[in-house]
Amino acid sequence: MAYEPDKWAKRAKEEGYLARSAYKLLALDREFHVFRRGDLVLDLGSAPGSWVQVALKKIGERGFVIGVDLEPAKVGTSVNFAFLRKDIYDADLESELKKIIKKPFDAVLSDVAPNTTGQKDVDQWRSHELTLRVFGIVKNELKKNGTAVVKVFEGPDTPEIILLFKESFKRVSMVKPEASIKGSKEVYIVAKGFKSIFT
Ligand SMILES: C[S@@+](CC[C@H](N)C(=O)[O-])C[C@H]1O[C@@H](n2cnc3c(N)ncnc32)[C@H](O)[C@@H]1O
Repeated sequence: MAYEPDKWAKRAKEEGYLARSAYKLLALDREFHVFRRGDLVLDLGSAPGSWVQVALKKIGERGFVIGVDLEPAKVGTSVNFAFLRKDIYDADLESELKKIIKKPFDAVLSDVAPNTTGQKDVDQWRSHELTLRVFGIVKNELKKNGTAVVKVFEGPDTPEIILLFKESFKRVSMVKPEASIKGSKEVYIVAKGFKSIFT
């Protein structure tokens, strides 16, 4: 079948998801079992909120999701969702998270993407910087044996990022889900079995 650029966006609209990105996370969850019922999930770069919608469905009523983004969330807050409108570089981000949930997270997700300039090397460098920051948050916030799903723009710095994840997780995969725009540099690192020094 020929590639239809609007297929996923159309489907998202029909199925009530806020963005086509939902299908990337659904595919990753089918393959890697990212979520379990009752999980605590941190979603970085969460706006408008299709990953939050997916996570909430998967974790059920005993779970909890915190979303973080510069932009407002389009998912309303509820008993098991809280949103922080913040920059992931904000120095008080992690203390603000602790005010909501004191325990480490079962999964940390990041779909954070820089504003693209169209200049491939600049975009890749910005994405690399964001990923390093995300990795720092993952290391502080994830529970032992937890899972991280992190978007990166593939480029010359990607092997360094993969190495960092491999040092800290038992299994690391790099995946391009079907719903990801073909030809884009976007790929997802799925890292399972976090080797935390904490429990
Ligand atoms: C591709 S969108 C995320 C889509 C989201 N996963 C969903 O399913 O609705 C990337 C998001 O990263 C956010 N972002 C980029 N840089 C950020 C930063 N420094 N701090 C927080 N959010 C950031 C953007 O505002 C944008 O909403």
